[in-house]
Amino acid sequence: MSIAPKEYKRVTVKSLSEMKAHAKKIAMLTAYDYTMAKIVDGSGIDVILVGDSASNVMAGHETTLPLTLDQMIYHASSVIRAIKRALVVVDLPFGTYQGNSKSALASAIRIMKESGGHAVKMEGGSEIKESIVRILSAGIPIMGHLGLTPQSIYKFGTYTVRAKEEEEAQKLKEDAKLLEKLGCFALVLEKIPAKLAEEVAKDLTIPVIGIGAGGGVDGQVLVTHDMLGMTHEFHPRFLRRYLDLYTEMSDAFERYIEDVKSGDFPNEKEQY
Ligand code: KIV
Repeated sequence: MSIAPKEYKRVTVKSLSEMKAHAKKIAMLTAYDYTMAKIVDGSGIDVILVGDSASNVMAGHETTLPLTLDQMIYHASSVIRAIKRALVVVDLPFGTYQGNSKSALASAIRIMKESGGHAVKMEGGSEIKESIVRILSAGIPIMGHLGLTPQSIYKFGTYTVRAKEEEEAQKLKEDAKLLEKLGCFALVLEKIPAKLAEEVAKDLTIPVIGIGAGGGVDGQVLVTHDMLGMTHEFHPRFLRRYLDLYTEMSDAFERYIEDVKSGDFPNEKEQY
């Protein structure tokens, strides 16, 4: 018998697990600031990711690597102040959890204490096992991230589709199982073949959220600035643009400049 899913006043890690159990898809978007987070949360999104894509989108870096823990805490605390409903997951930045599980725990604790985030996300599988175990032992929920993991971009060399070859696909499947076994509450799969992603989602009981991983998973995530069409140089196949804000904002800015230069703004009603 299928049980009707509850409408969640506040989304928790438990809600996400129930959503998977009831075959209800999970919608996740990024936010890095108060104003955007307020709009995204008010629209009814399930999960907000304070992604390290802030490094690209907010700071203009080519990769996610330069983002610091202090910067991530600043972004996440701005988002948290806006939220009424969504679960807020915060990326652990590059260099704050790889290699040393004690400093990984210290980084995760700083995120939770100083930003008020609800969970952390970490890229990688067996190679970061010790850090995952230590962070989970402190009661901090972890979302895993496999496939294209942008923090390892210099190892891959390109942002092309991952795990097309059998060996890499096998390692990804093993890592996914391991993350579930260790206690991660969900998993992001980025830019891998749809068939492989579907297989992983079917094999796991925790929710699998895809980006460029097809429709056979339990939910989807996009970078908000990409789906709004603000980052107009970026055209991956998986990206659906819901607006062309780059053009709309440019038009608005041009009209404002014209109005100021011509003396049309402000008019009689727009002054004291
Ligand atoms: O940082 C980010 O925005 C991400 C998503 C692409 C999943 O990790």
